[in-house]
Amino acid sequence: MCGIVGYIGKQKASPILLAGLSKLEYRGYDSAGIATIEKDFIKVAKDKGRVENLYNLKETKELEGTIGIAHTRWATHGIPSKINSHPHLDITESFAVVHNGIIENYIELKKFLEEKGYEFISDTDTEVIPNLISYFYSQEMEDSQNNKNACLRVLKAVKNACEKLIGSFSIEVISKYMPDNMIVVRKDSPLVIGKGNSENYIASDIPAILSYTKDFYLLNNFEYVILSKDNIKFYDNKLNEFTKQTTTITWDAMAADKGGYEDFMIKEINEQPTAVRETIGSRIENGKCIFPELDFSKEYLSSLNLIYIVACGTAMHAGLAVKNTIEKLCKIPVIVDIASEFRYRNPIVNEKTLCIFVSQSGETADTLAALKLSKENHAKTLAITNVIGSSISREADFAIYTHAGPEIAVASTKAYTSQITLLTLLTLYLAETLQTISQNEIREIVDELLSLPSKIENVLKNIDPISIIAKNMFKEKDVFYIGRGVDYVTSQEASLKLKEISYIHSESYAAGELKHGTIALIEKGINVIGIITDSNLVKKTVSNIEELTTRGAITTVIVNEATEKQIDKTIFDNVIVVPETISYLSPIVSIVPLQMLAYFVSKEKGLDVDKPRNLAKSVTVE
Ligand code: G6P
Repeated sequence: MCGIVGYIGKQKASPILLAGLSKLEYRGYDSAGIATIEKDFIKVAKDKGRVENLYNLKETKELEGTIGIAHTRWATHGIPSKINSHPHLDITESFAVVHNGIIENYIELKKFLEEKGYEFISDTDTEVIPNLISYFYSQEMEDSQNNKNACLRVLKAVKNACEKLIGSFSIEVISKYMPDNMIVVRKDSPLVIGKGNSENYIASDIPAILSYTKDFYLLNNFEYVILSKDNIKFYDNKLNEFTKQTTTITWDAMAADKGGYEDFMIKEINEQPTAVRETIGSRIENGKCIFPELDFSKEYLSSLNLIYIVACGTAMHAGLAVKNTIEKLCKIPVIVDIASEFRYRNPIVNEKTLCIFVSQSGETADTLAALKLSKENHAKTLAITNVIGSSISREADFAIYTHAGPEIAVASTKAYTSQITLLTLLTLYLAETLQTISQNEIREIVDELLSLPSKIENVLKNIDPISIIAKNMFKEKDVFYIGRGVDYVTSQEASLKLKEISYIHSESYAAGELKHGTIALIEKGINVIGIITDSNLVKKTVSNIEELTTRGAITTVIVNEATEKQIDKTIFDNVIVVPETISYLSPIVSIVPLQMLAYFVSKEKGLDVDKPRNLAKSVTVE
């Protein structure tokens, strides 16, 4: 939610900031803006709409400064408008701030400042921040004993302001009082600093500035940073200076570009064989799954009476896809929960619970809060994220990573299949430690895991029939997805994909449950997509689909080479066959044509596939 970029160096800042914003647009795209320091004043260019609008603004072209901050917004407080766009200035136009997060107590702070004579022009929560800084700066100036330099005075003012803020924030501050510096700080919203050569970069996440540097400082909460073009100084929450090590990021900068594809989503769908292969990486040794970063003993695992998998959106579906696998192979009950629900229902979590948090970005606010809650309740916590150094991976007791590479499209694809892959590898490691699985079973699953990349490649080679289905479907108002067992999970994820990028209303149902109410919605011409990959459940699902055909539904089924043989293909309008795999892993293969279907439908409708309306990729507000 909202992306921020900063540059301090020897080049003109605005082109670098615009390029960074374009890469961060998936975090929000309803307005955008830049502020730079121009000799002794701050100049702002901002407007409603996407980053591309900024390129053409007269004000943007006039920005000459070599120090600047920038923002792309996903509105929370105040409608998308020029006045509500960031950067926001204080009343004296001495400080400019961009902010990602939410200030929960902004109304009280606004009142406090209004009583001191401050006036506000926007409806945002953010505008209190530059004004609070301005207020504390003026207090610093009144202190006659204070002989700090201007930059340290601003730092003190920023710290005093941040201590008043309740909520989440990552902020960048520039000021006319420190024309050669910038100050940044974060609390619960992401921010990274890229170290360059006589120039430094700041961004909400790594891909935005990956083409300039691979050396990053990953900030913790309440670490204050003063940047100049040649220096980066870190201060703790008492403003004591400390040193920090850089982390080298191995992602290839090209990985964050479209690489010849029309959209990021189609590129990322096609990257799934590589993402799955990289996620398996070197985790398999002599037929065993190895996790050197986990020190789970047999005694500890045997003491567990529950595993929670907590996540949001697609990551939550990845948890659902492995629930049965863990229960079956480890003999431990698993509850998969939506992070925003988990937090507020007093879940039973204690030292006998292992809590696993799945998040592509590693920054989702609700997942992070659920993790903190679990730690407070003495559970061991394990993060599964795609971003090294992300908040969730740093907060958890243990972190393991998917190696999907940067995922830019808002609709998650390669992260999902990589998450199921990693969760399955983890399950094998747990089951082996617990000795609840035989070597033969491990070997069978490992062999299948290793064959997945080529199976996904096969699906990707056969996409023409899917594009034809999309051509017949894109004008529909409602689409239903059904399946049983693990195919029900696939139907949930497929339905989410369609909804988020095509805006077609869609429902996913456990095939057997449809007749308990929802079947009333089925009428002639409704599209129903059935997923049938479990040989044991073919007959049951087919008869559920027939109940719908009888009522006039247009039916498409996803089957595999085994279940294809068990069905009468003539009763369905469309049949898509995917390679067969064991049922634990089938969600990884059977989701691929359905990701494609959502993609093609969205393209047929002429929509922006990568940036669907109202959504943001990284949801850093609760
Ligand atoms: C947003 C995105 C989804 C994603 C979810 C969880 O809603 O649009 O694609 O699945 O957040 O994100 P995470 O980064 O925690 O996996």
